[in-house]
Amino acid sequence: MPEVYNWQLGRMMTYIYEEKHPKEQFTFVFNTNRCIACQTCTMAHKSTWTFSKGQEYMWWNNVETKPYGGYPQFWDWKILKMLEQSNPGQNVWNVRKTSNKAIHGVYEGVTIFEAPAKIGLNQQAIGYVPTDEEWRFPNFGEDTAHGREFTQSREGTFGGDNGVKSVLPEHKIWFFYLQRICNHCTYPGCLAACPRKAIYKRQEDGIVLIDQSRCRGYKKCVEQCPYKKPMFRGTTRISEKCIACYPRIEGLDPLTEGDQMETRCMAACVGKIRLQGLVKIGSNGEWAHDPDNPQYYLIKDRKVALPLYPQFGTEPNGYYVPSRHVPRSYSQQMFGPGVDHSIDQYMVPDRDLLGVLQLFRTTQRIIFKWKREPGPKIFETNIHGKKFEMYNDTIIGFNRKGKEIIRVTVEEPFYVRPEEHPGAF
Ligand code: SF4
Ligand code: SF4
Ligand code: F3S
Repeated sequence: MPEVYNWQLGRMMTYIYEEKHPKEQFTFVFNTNRCIACQTCTMAHKSTWTFSKGQEYMWWNNVETKPYGGYPQFWDWKILKMLEQSNPGQNVWNVRKTSNKAIHGVYEGVTIFEAPAKIGLNQQAIGYVPTDEEWRFPNFGEDTAHGREFTQSREGTFGGDNGVKSVLPEHKIWFFYLQRICNHCTYPGCLAACPRKAIYKRQEDGIVLIDQSRCRGYKKCVEQCPYKKPMFRGTTRISEKCIACYPRIEGLDPLTEGDQMETRCMAACVGKIRLQGLVKIGSNGEWAHDPDNPQYYLIKDRKVALPLYPQFGTEPNGYYVPSRHVPRSYSQQMFGPGVDHSIDQYMVPDRDLLGVLQLFRTTQRIIFKWKREPGPKIFETNIHGKKFEMYNDTIIGFNRKGKEIIRVTVEEPFYVRPEEHPGAF
């Protein structure tokens, strides 16, 4: 089995195919601290791509309430349990081995690709096919902060009449919203699993697609994508998944006159939690150093945005700013050992970081480069004993050709409604 380098794990790992990288990679950053779970992204996606017969249960974009929600239900609990069972007590990170090549330390456990060998299973990755019932409730457990009513049945399954009850939100403990689309992984579990080789990763932007003419509905992709993002369509008997709205990424939407555009789910985000872009991959397969690119800046430079379940090993290209009020151990299981560093910076952002965070959801066009112009100091305070100074800087975003596409200030404009029109601007 070939060995490939997974930068999120800080080490080589086994994968069915040789290491190969696209010229650019589709990436996105979701700031979980800002999400209000309005589901506008979910509906923008649904009304664009999955509104037809046979697609009723397909939510390529979903927002689930953690820790109890999940679509399909319990997807991450199940994969984590399988990983644990294949390597009991050993799936740990070694942060003492942090280096330039291993920016979050080294994962010393097994990935979904390495687990089968440990337990004598003859397949590319561990996984399971969710039941119809598990797919049925895309927003099960919404706003549920209390887990007392969740029980496991004797058969070891969850759901239905077997004891799962949702309770009204009590806000006694904690919850947060996790936004999910296909991660267009560097080492996709879906692609590794497909016996028809019907799944491919595009050279130009790393978007992972299912070739509808090759797919014969084997569902191995459904089984071995740990994030459960390929979905089987009963009417056509083949599988479908998020296509990263590739016509928009290619700049084919007439709205922007050729400018490359963010996906529908990103562009619709009311909470301004989403920023999507493309990063350049160098000839050595690593991300080309480019801190002027907002994605590179947040993910690699400042390490504020972290991968979702990096221990799965697919090198997902969706990144998250973890929620600051969630127990750290939970977040670390979900986003890896970089959580403390990320939250420390996010809580007391410096001028550059605060500036880039202002760019989220300000334009539908992809921002390839950002710049900050200094403004006057407008506020200062102490946050957890650290001095925080806010400046009204101007942040400018540029398209691929270097043309300015967005200009915002840190201080948001303030509008006073005229007295004679109290209900209107
Ligand atoms: Fe494939 Fe799943 Fe990764 Fe998407 S998230 S590329 S479906 S393995
Ligand atoms: Fe749907 Fe496009 Fe978002 Fe994928 S990127 S979930 S296809 S809207
Ligand atoms: Fe392959 Fe998945 Fe189709 S495994 S054949 S892409 S259902």
